[in-house]
Amino acid sequence: MEVTTLTELLDVRVLDRLETIDDLPAGDLARSTALRREGFSAEVTAALLTQAQLRNEAVGKFGPYAAEMLFTRDGLAQATRLPVAAHHARRLLAGRDPGVGGTVRIADLGCGIGADAFAFAGLGASVEAVDADEVTAAIAAFNLRHLPDAHVEHALAGDVDTSGFDALWFDPARRRIGRGNARGSTSRITDPDEFSPSLTWVIEQAQQAPAAGVKLGPALDHDLIPAEAEAQWVSHSGDVVEVCLYFGTARQRPGRSALVMGERTLLVHEDDVPETDEDRLGELGSFLLEPDGAIVRAGLVTALTGPLQARRLHPSIAYLTSDVAPTGPAAAGVSAYEILDVLPAKVPSLRKELVARGIGSVVIKKRGADIVPDQVRRQLKLPKGDKATLVFTRLGDRHIVLLTRPVVVEG
Ligand SMILES: C[S@@+](CC[C@H](N)C(=O)[O-])C[C@H]1O[C@@H](n2cnc3c(N)ncnc32)[C@H](O)[C@@H]1O
Repeated sequence: MEVTTLTELLDVRVLDRLETIDDLPAGDLARSTALRREGFSAEVTAALLTQAQLRNEAVGKFGPYAAEMLFTRDGLAQATRLPVAAHHARRLLAGRDPGVGGTVRIADLGCGIGADAFAFAGLGASVEAVDADEVTAAIAAFNLRHLPDAHVEHALAGDVDTSGFDALWFDPARRRIGRGNARGSTSRITDPDEFSPSLTWVIEQAQQAPAAGVKLGPALDHDLIPAEAEAQWVSHSGDVVEVCLYFGTARQRPGRSALVMGERTLLVHEDDVPETDEDRLGELGSFLLEPDGAIVRAGLVTALTGPLQARRLHPSIAYLTSDVAPTGPAAAGVSAYEILDVLPAKVPSLRKELVARGIGSVVIKKRGADIVPDQVRRQLKLPKGDKATLVFTRLGDRHIVLLTRPVVVEG
């Protein structure tokens, strides 16, 4: 989106039209014709239709607040989901006592469309946010308009004097993008020194602050985590969304942790990993447990073995097996499958076994097996029949297929 289009979009009459856009007949063409007839320019009409669509897409991240916000496509893609942003806010505010009548001052250095800043200010902090992109900064200012203690500027993170802040927040751009356009193509940046701002600079700032958080992609190389930081991988409703490095008073315990957020919450820390779990490695039980992606990314799969009375199937594969169905708080960290049978991995023999059991449709899961599920499903050419979940994996050196049934995990 061009700055001039955004300026026009911010006109009260145009924003009012956005509020009531669902009153128009459905379909982009019909809406575009109606808006043009009402006198809106081609650019404003396109911007209105894009914003209406982005608001719909944003409901998953922002719930009802989406209907009051503006977005760029890139800004929405990179924005933190609101419940996760609220978690960031709680971490940055923890232990920062503002004193009587005071507020905790947070600097958000690369605020995007303002999702994290929204949570910081919403939980009572005073927020100074900057973004290097002019349109994105203006949109963040719009999104934060009801929060008087939040201010946004179009500026570079490196130009902000961070000395007076109680906490710093960084969510460096990890994709190469054009300007704040609605539909620009993006590509993932793999070298952390090409993040914007660079990871080296961000970590230096974070280490000097009283409290700081640095949101990064969950594939972060563990070797890049500074020793004094807490690195927390987070999943929300089954999706691994980030790893966040916490410093100063925002850090609870140094080391790696995984936070599973959703209907139930689970926090696992590297201190929970047992000294050794070699005892019954590779001995198949009655259940297969698939740990949540945040726990896998954090390298903390074995932290679940004690609480779930489970053991690993293979030293380098992130499946566990147990003789009892998972229960208790740690059960929030796994999906569970009852193991009904062990079948051969070769397609012709596997097909024979499945047909003999009346199975006609399969969900295929895999870890440690070099297969393409769609290809296997096609090769199996099963006749109509019951549904089953197949797990292609390894037991020691042996390639196996587990015939399983998903189990509802009790909390
Ligand atoms: C991942 S997004 C932030 C998303 C934000 N936390 C949210 O939840 O909405 C990163 C933002 O940093 C901005 N940015 C990149 N380099 C910057 C710099 N040197 N100074 C300030 N902002 C920068 C980008 O324009 C982008 O909007």
